[in-house]
Amino acid sequence: MKLILLGAPGAGKGTAAKMLTGLDGSVQISTGDILRGAVQAKSELGKQAEAFMKRGDLVPDELIMGIMEKRLQEPDCAKGFLLDGFPRTIPQAEALKALLAKLKIKLDLVVNIDVPRAVILDRLTTRRTCSNTACQAIYNVKSNPPKKAGICDKCGSPVVQREDETEAAISHRLETYNQKTAPLIGFYEKEGLLVTIDATSSDAVVNTIKQKLKI
Ligand code: AP5
Repeated sequence: MKLILLGAPGAGKGTAAKMLTGLDGSVQISTGDILRGAVQAKSELGKQAEAFMKRGDLVPDELIMGIMEKRLQEPDCAKGFLLDGFPRTIPQAEALKALLAKLKIKLDLVVNIDVPRAVILDRLTTRRTCSNTACQAIYNVKSNPPKKAGICDKCGSPVVQREDETEAAISHRLETYNQKTAPLIGFYEKEGLLVTIDATSSDAVVNTIKQKLKI
């Protein structure tokens, strides 16, 4: 699978990507996870990205393209990849198109996960994430709590609320999405790659993708 998952913050991109990787060994590439790992590790990238992320602003396109150009050429991408949270602006989409052409990689689909705003707001305030950067499992205190409160089922690390999950940062992230990322829907529609899935169930998202790709 060579897919892009589009959707507002909290639409369930990360959750669907984690389910899809189990199907054929394609890797999930989440720019958000990569950046949170860099912030935790206090690397140069993390220092540059931290303030943008905390406010709910996008990190500059040049930083993201630097990460993705390297990441897409790593050997584990040969089997397939699910891009979760990238691209997020028209310049990123244009740069990705040029990069994929250079690498002779063809995308299968761009999946737009469309979830009502009220559902998104509820999910983001109740999401919890594993603090271990190598794991980053996603939970929800209402719909999918860890078996033992506050502890990751998979690796035993503490499960925490993300730093950009304050009310102010969430509403800023949604605004940024509408201004900068939603135009990608039209971009990929013109490219003939877009499928919009109007679904609040992650199983429905995964099943529609399986049907479209005949897997
Ligand atoms: P990122 O980590 O990408 O955040 P996001 O796009 O805001 O997406 P989320 O992770 O919030 O949501 P999701 O759609 O993955 O939902 P999830 O599956 O977790 O980016 C963070 C920041 O990094 C950005 O703000 C920016 O600063 C920076 N950044 C990242 N990429 C960038 C880029 N390309 N360019 C520039 N800057 C970039 O689900 C949400 C919750 O809902 C969970 O609790 C989950 O359990 C629950 N849930 C999911 N599906 C269901 C369901 N079907 N039913 C019930 N509950 C569900």
